[in-house]
Amino acid sequence: MSESGRAQVRAWRSYAVLGTVAIAALFAVAVSRSIAMPLAVAGAILVAAFAVYFGTSRRNVIGNVAAPESARETKGLSGAALDILEVIDDPLLVLDDSGRIVFANRASKTLVGPDAGGKRISAVLRTPELLETVERILAGGGPENVAFSVLVPVQHHYEAYVACTGGRLILMRIRDVSAIRRAEELRADFVANASHELRTPLAAITGFIDTLRGHARDDPSARERFLEIMSTEAGRMRRLIDDLLSLTRIELNEHNPPAGEVDVVAVVRDAADALKPLADSDRIRLDIAASPALPIVGDRDEVTQVFQNLMHNAIKYGRPGGEVRVRFGRTHAPSRRDSGMQAFVSIEDEGEGIPREAIPRLTERFYRVDVKRSRERGGTGLGLAIVKHILNRHRGRLQIESVPGQGSIFTVFLPAAPDGSN
Ligand SMILES: Nc1ncnc2c1ncn2[C@@H]1O[C@H](COP(=O)(O)OP(=O)(O)O)[C@@H](O)[C@H]1O
Ligand SMILES: [Mg+2]
Repeated sequence: MSESGRAQVRAWRSYAVLGTVAIAALFAVAVSRSIAMPLAVAGAILVAAFAVYFGTSRRNVIGNVAAPESARETKGLSGAALDILEVIDDPLLVLDDSGRIVFANRASKTLVGPDAGGKRISAVLRTPELLETVERILAGGGPENVAFSVLVPVQHHYEAYVACTGGRLILMRIRDVSAIRRAEELRADFVANASHELRTPLAAITGFIDTLRGHARDDPSARERFLEIMSTEAGRMRRLIDDLLSLTRIELNEHNPPAGEVDVVAVVRDAADALKPLADSDRIRLDIAASPALPIVGDRDEVTQVFQNLMHNAIKYGRPGGEVRVRFGRTHAPSRRDSGMQAFVSIEDEGEGIPREAIPRLTERFYRVDVKRSRERGGTGLGLAIVKHILNRHRGRLQIESVPGQGSIFTVFLPAAPDGSN
Protein backbone atom coordinates (compact mmCIF):
# COMPACT_ATOMS: atom_id res chain seq x y z
CA MET A 1 0.00 0.00 0.00
CA SER A 2 1.22 3.52 -0.77
CA GLU A 3 2.21 6.04 1.88
CA SER A 4 -0.86 8.26 1.26
CA GLY A 5 -3.17 5.20 1.31
CA ARG A 6 -1.96 4.19 4.75
CA ALA A 7 -2.40 7.75 6.05
CA GLN A 8 -6.02 7.74 4.76
CA VAL A 9 -6.80 4.48 6.64
CA ARG A 10 -5.40 5.92 9.86
CA ALA A 11 -7.47 9.08 9.47
CA TRP A 12 -10.71 7.14 9.00
CA ARG A 13 -9.90 4.88 11.95
CA SER A 14 -9.66 7.89 14.28
CA TYR A 15 -12.88 9.40 12.85
CA ALA A 16 -14.68 6.13 13.58
CA VAL A 17 -13.47 6.00 17.21
CA LEU A 18 -14.34 9.62 17.85
CA GLY A 19 -17.76 9.27 16.17
CA THR A 20 -18.58 6.30 18.42
CA VAL A 21 -17.61 8.29 21.52
CA ALA A 22 -19.82 11.22 20.44
CA ILE A 23 -22.85 8.99 19.77
CA ALA A 24 -22.40 7.18 23.13
CA ALA A 25 -22.34 10.58 24.90
CA LEU A 26 -25.50 11.61 23.06
CA PHE A 27 -27.31 8.44 24.19
CA ALA A 28 -26.15 8.78 27.79
CA VAL A 29 -27.46 12.34 28.02
CA ALA A 30 -30.71 11.45 26.30
CA VAL A 31 -31.33 8.46 28.61
CA SER A 32 -30.70 10.44 31.78
CA ARG A 33 -32.97 13.26 30.40
CA SER A 34 -31.18 15.64 32.65
CA ILE A 35 -31.01 18.18 29.79
CA ALA A 36 -33.12 18.83 26.71
CA MET A 37 -32.54 16.47 23.71
CA PRO A 38 -31.53 19.21 21.13
CA LEU A 39 -29.00 20.59 23.61
CA ALA A 40 -27.56 17.06 24.12
CA VAL A 41 -27.26 16.57 20.33
CA ALA A 42 -25.52 19.95 19.91
CA GLY A 43 -23.15 19.13 22.81
CA ALA A 44 -22.26 15.71 21.34
CA ILE A 45 -21.51 17.27 17.92
CA LEU A 46 -19.30 19.89 19.56
CA VAL A 47 -17.42 17.19 21.53
CA ALA A 48 -16.99 15.10 18.36
CA ALA A 49 -15.70 18.12 16.37
CA PHE A 50 -13.10 18.95 19.03
CA ALA A 51 -12.07 15.32 19.28
CA VAL A 52 -11.67 14.98 15.48
CA TYR A 53 -9.62 18.21 15.35
CA PHE A 54 -7.21 17.17 18.10
CA GLY A 55 -7.13 13.57 16.90
CA THR A 56 -6.02 14.47 13.38
CA SER A 57 -3.48 17.10 14.42
CA ARG A 58 -1.90 14.64 16.87
CA ARG A 59 -1.75 12.02 14.13
CA ASN A 60 0.31 14.42 11.96
CA VAL A 61 2.97 14.75 14.63
CA ILE A 62 3.08 11.00 15.18
CA GLY A 63 3.07 10.18 11.44
CA ASN A 64 6.03 12.38 10.60
CA VAL A 65 8.71 11.79 13.15
CA ALA A 66 7.89 11.35 16.80
CA ALA A 67 6.46 7.81 16.90
CA PRO A 68 6.73 6.13 13.53
CA GLU A 69 4.74 3.11 12.50
CA SER A 70 6.67 1.73 9.56
CA ALA A 71 10.29 1.62 8.55
CA ARG A 72 9.70 3.92 5.61
CA GLU A 73 8.12 6.50 7.88
CA THR A 74 11.00 6.21 10.28
CA LYS A 75 13.08 7.87 7.64
CA GLY A 76 10.64 10.74 7.38
CA LEU A 77 11.36 10.53 3.66
CA SER A 78 8.92 9.96 0.83
CA GLY A 79 9.35 7.06 -1.59
CA ALA A 80 10.40 9.49 -4.35
CA ALA A 81 13.08 11.05 -2.14
CA LEU A 82 14.42 7.58 -1.31
CA ASP A 83 14.44 6.59 -4.98
CA ILE A 84 16.52 9.70 -5.77
CA LEU A 85 18.99 9.08 -2.93
CA GLU A 86 19.27 5.45 -4.01
CA VAL A 87 20.53 6.25 -7.52
CA ILE A 88 23.02 8.99 -6.56
CA ASP A 89 26.44 7.49 -7.28
CA ASP A 90 28.15 8.85 -4.15
CA PRO A 91 27.65 6.87 -0.94
CA LEU A 92 24.78 8.43 1.08
CA LEU A 93 23.63 7.52 4.56
CA VAL A 94 20.68 8.88 6.54
CA LEU A 95 20.86 8.58 10.32
CA ASP A 96 18.13 9.12 12.90
CA ASP A 97 18.59 11.26 15.99
CA SER A 98 20.12 8.37 17.90
CA GLY A 99 22.87 7.79 15.31
CA ARG A 100 21.24 4.72 13.76
CA ILE A 101 21.37 4.21 9.99
CA VAL A 102 17.84 4.43 8.63
CA PHE A 103 18.85 4.52 4.97
CA ALA A 104 22.00 3.52 3.05
CA ASN A 105 22.00 3.91 -0.74
CA ARG A 106 23.42 1.44 -3.25
CA ALA A 107 26.74 3.26 -3.68
CA SER A 108 27.39 3.03 0.07
CA LYS A 109 27.31 -0.79 0.16
CA THR A 110 31.01 -1.30 -0.58
CA LEU A 111 31.84 1.08 2.27
CA VAL A 112 29.32 0.04 4.96
CA GLY A 113 28.37 -3.48 3.86
CA PRO A 114 25.11 -4.80 2.41
CA ASP A 115 22.90 -4.61 5.55
CA ALA A 116 23.86 -1.46 7.33
CA GLY A 117 20.19 -0.42 7.80
CA GLY A 118 19.23 -0.35 11.49
CA LYS A 119 22.84 -0.49 12.71
CA ARG A 120 24.54 2.30 14.58
CA ILE A 121 26.95 4.35 12.48
CA SER A 122 29.70 3.55 15.01
CA ALA A 123 29.26 -0.16 14.22
CA VAL A 124 29.94 0.21 10.48
CA LEU A 125 32.42 3.11 10.25
CA ARG A 126 34.81 3.08 13.15
CA THR A 127 36.58 6.33 12.34
CA PRO A 128 36.82 8.66 15.34
CA GLU A 129 36.84 11.86 13.19
CA LEU A 130 33.57 10.90 11.53
CA LEU A 131 31.86 9.75 14.73
CA GLU A 132 32.86 12.93 16.56
CA THR A 133 31.35 14.97 13.74
CA VAL A 134 28.09 13.02 14.01
CA GLU A 135 28.07 13.61 17.80
CA ARG A 136 28.47 17.36 17.29
CA ILE A 137 25.66 17.48 14.76
CA LEU A 138 23.39 15.38 16.97
CA ALA A 139 24.06 17.96 19.68
CA GLY A 140 22.77 20.71 17.38
CA GLY A 141 25.94 21.68 15.47
CA GLY A 142 25.95 23.07 11.93
CA PRO A 143 26.98 21.15 8.75
CA GLU A 144 30.58 19.93 8.61
CA ASN A 145 33.05 18.46 6.12
CA VAL A 146 35.27 15.74 7.50
CA ALA A 147 38.14 13.78 5.93
CA PHE A 148 38.75 10.19 6.97
CA SER A 149 40.55 7.07 5.71
CA VAL A 150 39.63 3.40 5.68
CA LEU A 151 42.67 1.12 5.74
CA VAL A 152 41.18 -2.30 4.93
CA PRO A 153 40.93 -4.14 2.57
CA VAL A 154 42.85 -1.43 0.64
CA GLN A 155 43.57 2.07 1.79
CA HIS A 156 40.93 4.55 0.65
CA HIS A 157 40.55 8.23 1.47
CA TYR A 158 37.12 9.80 1.85
CA GLU A 159 35.54 13.16 2.50
CA ALA A 160 32.11 13.32 4.12
CA TYR A 161 29.63 16.19 4.26
CA VAL A 162 27.44 15.72 7.33
CA ALA A 163 24.37 17.88 7.95
CA CYS A 164 21.15 17.82 9.93
CA THR A 165 17.98 17.91 7.81
CA GLY A 166 15.07 20.03 9.04
CA GLY A 167 13.33 16.86 10.30
CA ARG A 168 15.92 15.73 12.89
CA LEU A 169 17.59 13.32 10.50
CA ILE A 170 21.28 13.44 9.59
CA LEU A 171 22.41 13.21 5.98
CA MET A 172 25.92 11.97 5.33
CA ARG A 173 27.30 12.29 1.77
CA ILE A 174 30.64 10.55 1.28
CA ARG A 175 33.10 11.03 -1.61
CA ASP A 176 36.01 8.75 -2.45
CA VAL A 177 38.96 11.13 -2.86
CA SER A 178 41.68 8.44 -3.16
CA ALA A 179 42.49 9.34 -6.80
CA ILE A 180 42.74 13.06 -5.98
CA ARG A 181 45.01 12.28 -3.01
CA ARG A 182 47.20 10.09 -5.22
CA ALA A 183 47.55 12.90 -7.79
CA GLU A 184 48.47 15.32 -4.98
CA GLU A 185 51.07 12.88 -3.69
CA LEU A 186 52.54 12.46 -7.18
CA ARG A 187 52.77 16.22 -7.59
CA ALA A 188 54.45 16.60 -4.20
CA ASP A 189 56.88 13.76 -5.09
CA PHE A 190 57.61 15.45 -8.40
CA VAL A 191 58.44 18.78 -6.75
CA ALA A 192 60.61 16.98 -4.17
CA ASN A 193 62.43 15.04 -6.93
CA ALA A 194 62.95 18.11 -9.10
CA SER A 195 64.32 20.10 -6.15
CA HIS A 196 66.62 17.25 -5.23
CA GLU A 197 67.91 16.95 -8.81
CA LEU A 198 68.64 20.68 -8.91
CA ARG A 199 70.19 20.77 -5.46
CA THR A 200 72.91 18.23 -6.29
CA PRO A 201 74.64 20.24 -9.06
CA LEU A 202 74.02 23.47 -7.16
CA ALA A 203 75.79 22.04 -4.10
CA ALA A 204 78.74 21.01 -6.30
CA ILE A 205 78.99 24.47 -7.86
CA THR A 206 78.76 26.23 -4.48
CA GLY A 207 81.43 23.88 -3.07
CA PHE A 208 83.85 24.65 -5.92
CA ILE A 209 83.28 28.40 -5.59
CA ASP A 210 84.38 28.14 -1.95
CA THR A 211 87.42 26.07 -2.93
CA LEU A 212 88.41 28.54 -5.64
CA ARG A 213 88.17 31.38 -3.14
CA GLY A 214 90.19 29.40 -0.63
CA HIS A 215 93.18 27.11 -1.11
CA ALA A 216 92.85 26.77 -4.92
CA ARG A 217 93.06 30.53 -5.37
CA ASP A 218 96.68 30.43 -6.52
CA ASP A 219 96.65 27.02 -8.23
CA PRO A 220 95.97 27.57 -11.95
CA SER A 221 95.67 23.86 -12.85
CA ALA A 222 93.19 23.15 -10.00
CA ARG A 223 91.23 26.26 -10.98
CA GLU A 224 90.97 25.05 -14.57
CA ARG A 225 89.78 21.59 -13.45
CA PHE A 226 87.21 23.00 -11.03
CA LEU A 227 85.85 25.47 -13.58
CA GLU A 228 85.40 22.56 -15.98
CA ILE A 229 83.37 20.61 -13.39
CA MET A 230 81.32 23.71 -12.55
CA SER A 231 80.51 24.17 -16.21
CA THR A 232 79.37 20.51 -16.47
CA GLU A 233 77.16 20.90 -13.39
CA ALA A 234 75.69 24.16 -14.68
CA GLY A 235 74.92 22.38 -17.97
CA ARG A 236 73.13 19.67 -16.03
CA MET A 237 70.98 22.27 -14.28
CA ARG A 238 70.18 23.96 -17.57
CA ARG A 239 69.13 20.64 -19.17
CA LEU A 240 66.97 19.81 -16.19
CA ILE A 241 65.21 23.17 -16.31
CA ASP A 242 64.75 22.85 -20.09
CA ASP A 243 63.23 19.37 -19.66
CA LEU A 244 60.97 20.49 -16.81
CA LEU A 245 59.68 23.41 -18.87
CA SER A 246 59.20 21.15 -21.89
CA LEU A 247 57.25 18.66 -19.85
CA THR A 248 54.99 21.35 -18.38
CA ARG A 249 54.33 22.90 -21.79
CA ILE A 250 53.51 19.53 -23.36
CA GLU A 251 51.25 18.56 -20.46
CA LEU A 252 49.32 21.84 -20.73
CA ASN A 253 48.85 21.19 -24.44
CA GLU A 254 48.11 17.49 -24.19
CA HIS A 255 44.35 17.76 -24.86
CA ASN A 256 44.91 19.99 -27.85
CA PRO A 257 45.43 17.77 -30.94
CA PRO A 258 48.33 18.82 -33.20
CA ALA A 259 47.54 20.27 -36.62
CA GLY A 260 50.59 20.25 -38.95
CA GLU A 261 51.86 17.49 -41.21
CA VAL A 262 55.33 16.03 -40.63
CA ASP A 263 57.38 13.42 -42.50
CA VAL A 264 58.84 11.20 -39.76
CA VAL A 265 61.58 9.89 -42.07
CA ALA A 266 62.92 13.42 -42.61
CA VAL A 267 62.64 14.19 -38.88
CA VAL A 268 64.63 11.05 -37.98
CA ARG A 269 67.36 11.90 -40.52
CA ASP A 270 67.68 15.45 -39.10
CA ALA A 271 67.87 14.07 -35.55
CA ALA A 272 70.53 11.54 -36.64
CA ASP A 273 72.62 14.35 -38.18
CA ALA A 274 72.41 16.34 -34.96
CA LEU A 275 73.43 13.32 -32.86
CA LYS A 276 76.25 12.14 -35.12
CA PRO A 277 79.06 13.78 -33.07
CA LEU A 278 77.80 12.00 -29.92
CA ALA A 279 77.56 8.67 -31.75
CA ASP A 280 81.05 9.17 -33.20
CA SER A 281 82.55 9.79 -29.77
CA ASP A 282 81.21 6.37 -28.68
CA ARG A 283 82.20 4.82 -32.05
CA ILE A 284 78.55 3.95 -32.65
CA ARG A 285 77.34 3.62 -36.23
CA LEU A 286 73.88 5.02 -36.96
CA ASP A 287 72.16 2.85 -39.56
CA ILE A 288 69.02 4.62 -40.85
CA ALA A 289 67.03 2.44 -43.26
CA ALA A 290 66.02 3.82 -46.65
CA SER A 291 62.30 4.61 -46.76
CA PRO A 292 59.77 6.65 -48.73
CA ALA A 293 58.28 9.63 -46.86
CA LEU A 294 55.91 8.73 -43.99
CA PRO A 295 53.68 11.73 -43.36
CA ILE A 296 51.86 11.97 -40.02
CA VAL A 297 49.70 14.66 -38.42
CA GLY A 298 51.88 16.28 -35.81
CA ASP A 299 53.88 19.14 -34.41
CA ARG A 300 57.33 19.12 -36.00
CA ASP A 301 59.23 20.31 -32.90
CA GLU A 302 57.56 17.76 -30.64
CA VAL A 303 58.00 14.85 -33.07
CA THR A 304 61.67 15.85 -33.40
CA GLN A 305 61.98 15.80 -29.61
CA VAL A 306 60.58 12.22 -29.50
CA PHE A 307 63.17 10.83 -31.95
CA GLN A 308 66.04 12.87 -30.54
CA ASN A 309 65.34 11.52 -27.05
CA LEU A 310 65.00 7.91 -28.23
CA MET A 311 68.08 7.97 -30.49
CA HIS A 312 70.10 9.78 -27.85
CA ASN A 313 69.17 7.04 -25.33
CA ALA A 314 70.11 4.33 -27.86
CA ILE A 315 73.55 5.98 -28.20
CA LYS A 316 73.99 6.63 -24.44
CA TYR A 317 72.89 3.17 -23.32
CA GLY A 318 74.02 1.30 -26.46
CA ARG A 319 77.24 -0.71 -26.88
CA PRO A 320 80.29 1.46 -27.57
CA GLY A 321 81.62 0.39 -30.98
CA GLY A 322 78.21 -1.11 -31.82
CA GLU A 323 75.32 -0.09 -34.01
CA VAL A 324 71.99 1.72 -33.65
CA ARG A 325 69.49 0.70 -36.33
CA VAL A 326 66.42 2.73 -37.26
CA ARG A 327 63.67 1.08 -39.35
CA PHE A 328 60.41 2.51 -40.74
CA GLY A 329 57.10 0.99 -41.75
CA ARG A 330 53.35 1.25 -41.99
CA THR A 331 50.81 -0.95 -40.28
CA HIS A 332 47.07 -1.16 -39.54
CA ALA A 333 45.98 0.54 -36.34
CA PRO A 334 45.49 -2.14 -33.69
CA SER A 335 42.09 -0.98 -32.40
CA ARG A 336 38.86 -0.27 -34.27
CA ARG A 337 38.63 3.15 -32.60
CA ASP A 338 41.78 4.30 -34.43
CA SER A 339 40.78 3.16 -37.87
CA GLY A 340 43.29 3.72 -40.65
CA MET A 341 47.03 3.30 -40.95
CA GLN A 342 49.89 3.98 -38.60
CA ALA A 343 53.47 4.89 -39.32
CA PHE A 344 56.03 3.21 -37.10
CA VAL A 345 59.69 3.85 -36.38
CA SER A 346 61.79 1.34 -34.45
CA ILE A 347 65.12 2.22 -32.84
CA GLU A 348 67.26 -0.74 -31.92
CA ASP A 349 70.51 -0.73 -29.94
CA GLU A 350 73.00 -3.40 -28.85
CA GLY A 351 73.35 -2.19 -25.26
CA GLU A 352 72.90 -3.93 -21.93
CA GLY A 353 69.14 -3.95 -22.26
CA ILE A 354 66.56 -3.22 -19.58
CA PRO A 355 65.42 -5.57 -16.78
CA ARG A 356 61.90 -6.81 -17.47
CA GLU A 357 60.39 -5.31 -14.28
CA ALA A 358 61.78 -1.86 -15.08
CA ILE A 359 60.16 -1.59 -18.53
CA PRO A 360 56.69 -0.43 -17.33
CA ARG A 361 58.30 2.28 -15.17
CA LEU A 362 60.65 3.81 -17.77
CA THR A 363 58.24 6.61 -18.72
CA GLU A 364 57.78 7.76 -15.10
CA ARG A 365 59.40 11.10 -14.36
CA PHE A 366 62.89 10.73 -12.89
CA TYR A 367 62.80 6.94 -13.11
CA ARG A 368 66.22 5.56 -14.12
CA VAL A 369 67.45 1.99 -14.06
CA ASP A 370 70.93 3.15 -13.10
CA VAL A 371 70.90 6.70 -11.71
CA LYS A 372 74.68 7.04 -11.61
CA ARG A 373 75.11 5.96 -15.22
CA SER A 374 72.30 8.25 -16.39
CA ARG A 375 73.89 11.23 -14.55
CA GLU A 376 77.33 10.46 -15.94
CA ARG A 377 75.85 10.55 -19.41
CA GLY A 378 74.08 13.87 -18.77
CA GLY A 379 70.61 12.36 -18.31
CA THR A 380 67.79 14.05 -16.41
CA GLY A 381 65.44 11.05 -16.14
CA LEU A 382 62.73 13.07 -17.92
CA GLY A 383 63.35 12.12 -21.57
CA LEU A 384 60.94 9.18 -21.79
CA ALA A 385 58.28 11.03 -19.71
CA ILE A 386 58.44 13.77 -22.34
CA VAL A 387 58.20 11.16 -25.12
CA LYS A 388 55.12 9.61 -23.49
CA HIS A 389 53.29 12.94 -23.17
CA ILE A 390 54.08 13.97 -26.75
CA LEU A 391 52.83 10.61 -28.02
CA ASN A 392 49.64 10.95 -25.93
CA ARG A 393 48.98 14.29 -27.58
CA HIS A 394 49.58 12.75 -31.01
CA ARG A 395 47.40 9.68 -30.27
CA GLY A 396 50.54 7.60 -30.70
CA ARG A 397 52.07 4.81 -28.64
CA LEU A 398 55.49 3.64 -27.47
CA GLN A 399 56.43 -0.05 -27.39
CA ILE A 400 59.52 -1.15 -25.48
CA GLU A 401 61.12 -4.55 -25.97
CA SER A 402 64.42 -5.60 -24.48
CA VAL A 403 66.57 -8.65 -23.95
CA PRO A 404 69.03 -8.03 -21.09
CA GLY A 405 72.56 -8.44 -22.38
CA GLN A 406 71.52 -8.10 -26.04
CA GLY A 407 69.84 -4.73 -26.48
CA SER A 408 66.55 -2.86 -26.66
CA ILE A 409 64.03 -1.87 -29.32
CA PHE A 410 61.92 1.26 -28.81
CA THR A 411 59.10 1.46 -31.40
CA VAL A 412 56.93 4.56 -31.90
CA PHE A 413 53.51 4.24 -33.59
CA LEU A 414 51.81 7.38 -34.90
CA PRO A 415 48.57 7.77 -36.89
CA ALA A 416 49.46 8.29 -40.56
CA ALA A 417 48.28 11.54 -42.19
CA PRO A 418 44.95 10.97 -44.07
CA ASP A 419 46.50 11.27 -47.58
CA GLY A 420 49.13 8.69 -46.82
CA SER A 421 46.69 6.15 -45.36
CA ASN A 422 44.83 5.11 -48.53
N1 LIG B 1 67.99 2.26 -25.05
C1 LIG B 1 68.04 2.04 -23.73
N2 LIG B 1 68.72 1.00 -23.23
C2 LIG B 1 68.80 0.78 -21.90
N3 LIG B 1 68.18 1.56 -20.98
C3 LIG B 1 67.49 2.61 -21.40
C4 LIG B 1 67.37 2.91 -22.79
N4 LIG B 1 66.61 4.03 -22.91
C5 LIG B 1 66.26 4.39 -21.66
N5 LIG B 1 66.80 3.56 -20.75
C6 LIG B 1 66.62 3.60 -19.29
O1 LIG B 1 65.51 4.42 -19.01
C7 LIG B 1 65.86 5.47 -18.13
C8 LIG B 1 65.00 6.69 -18.41
O2 LIG B 1 65.28 7.24 -19.67
P1 LIG B 1 65.07 8.78 -19.89
O3 LIG B 1 63.72 9.13 -19.40
O4 LIG B 1 65.40 9.08 -21.32
O5 LIG B 1 66.10 9.44 -18.90
P2 LIG B 1 67.66 9.70 -19.02
O6 LIG B 1 68.12 9.22 -20.36
O7 LIG B 1 67.80 11.16 -18.87
O8 LIG B 1 68.28 8.96 -17.88
C9 LIG B 1 67.34 5.68 -18.35
O9 LIG B 1 67.95 6.26 -17.25
C10 LIG B 1 67.81 4.26 -18.58
O10 LIG B 1 67.98 3.62 -17.34
MG1 LIG C 1 67.06 10.06 -22.11
